[in-house]
Order: sequence, then C-alpha cells, then structure tokens
Amino acid sequence: MYDGDIASVLISEEQINQRTAELAEILAKRYPPSTDGDPDSDLLLIGVLKGAMMFMTDLARALPIPTQMEFMAVSSYGSSTSSSGVVRILKDLDRDIADRNVLIVEDIIDSGLTLSWLMRNLASRNPRSLEVCTLLRKPDAVRADLEVANVGFDIPNEFVVGYGLDFAERYRDLPYIGLLDPKVYSS
Ligand code: PRP
Ligand code: MN
Ligand code: MG
Repeated sequence: MYDGDIASVLISEEQINQRTAELAEILAKRYPPSTDGDPDSDLLLIGVLKGAMMFMTDLARALPIPTQMEFMAVSSYGSSTSSSGVVRILKDLDRDIADRNVLIVEDIIDSGLTLSWLMRNLASRNPRSLEVCTLLRKPDAVRADLEVANVGFDIPNEFVVGYGLDFAERYRDLPYIGLLDPKVYSS
C-alpha cells in the first residue's frame, strides 16, 4: 500500500496498542465509574474529526469504564501547512456538556493552536472537568504552554501520517504512524 511513500515506521501498531492500554489504565483511575446509575455521570469522550477517529475508537475499547462519545469537526483558517489559530466549527457537539466530565481526544498536537482554541470553547460550556488525551505531541506544542495531562508519545518535528493522520486526506487508513517521504509533499 502507498508504495514508497512511507520512509519509515515511527510508531508501530504494537507500540500504539501498548501505549493505549497504559493510557487507558491511567485514565480509568482518574475517572472511577460512578455508581449513581445516571448516564450523565459517564466520562464523555470528545473526538476531534477526522484525525482522532482511530485513536478514539481504540481508546474507548481499551478503557475499562463506561464512556460516551461525541465528535467535533473543526478547521483552521489560513494555509493548509500551518494552523493560524483561528478555528471554525464544521460540526458541533450534539449535546450539552454542562456538568460533564469531558476528555478531548486528539491524534496530534502540533502547534497547539487547534487545542487551545477548543479548550477555551469547551470550557465556556461549563463542563465539570475538562482534560485532554492526545496520542502524539510535537515540540512546538510543548512551547505553546498547553496543559495536557495525557500524552501517548512525544515525537520529533517531522511529517507523520497514518492511524488517522493524513497528508491531503491520504494515509489515514495505515495502522501505524509513519514518516512521510519528503518526495510526496515536495512534488
Ligand atoms: C490536525 C490534527 C490536529 C491538528 C493539530 O487536524 O488532527 O487536530 O491538526 O494541529 P495544531 O496543533 O497545529 O493546531 P487537521 O486540521 O489537519 O484536520 P484532520 O484531523 O481532519 O486531518
Ligand atoms: Mn485533526
Ligand atoms: Mg489533517
């Protein structure tokens, strides 16, 4: 598949599975399931389309606690190669998150601009708690001073694709995180 487009595998399917299981264990301790029988007490996962879809579904299956799922789709204005920090909602949540324990699920934090906007936007809806779980984080995000409690892997500043991450909408279907061969985006 995608002959020659992937220069190397950065994070294998097995490494993703193992780290996801570790994160699930940490998160299950942080969000002990309530016993009040109220569906609104379940942890609410908010997946950011489209990149987070693979991680969202694998994380939900790895979590030994009841979770509910919502999705948002956002898009940054400006060039396609770098986020501008101005974000537009393409698909909003279907329900109210007031008083809910909310966990934003992301595939990657690159500049951190998408997530800082999203955190502000969701915080204004008065959730009981609001945290983030991201599979990948790049060095710039660390500088963006975002409070991200749960990170799968800190990765170098290289163009990664696969497991939800795309270049021009391709490669999301790969089961691993790979480095894209520069010839693909320089041609
Ligand atoms: C990517 C990625 C994150 C965001 C990170 O999404 O999935 O959501 O960019 O970038 P930032 O930290 O610099 O803001 P993208 O906008 O490409 O949409 P997609 O998930 O549909 O691919
Ligand atoms: Mn995304
Ligand atoms: Mg993308």
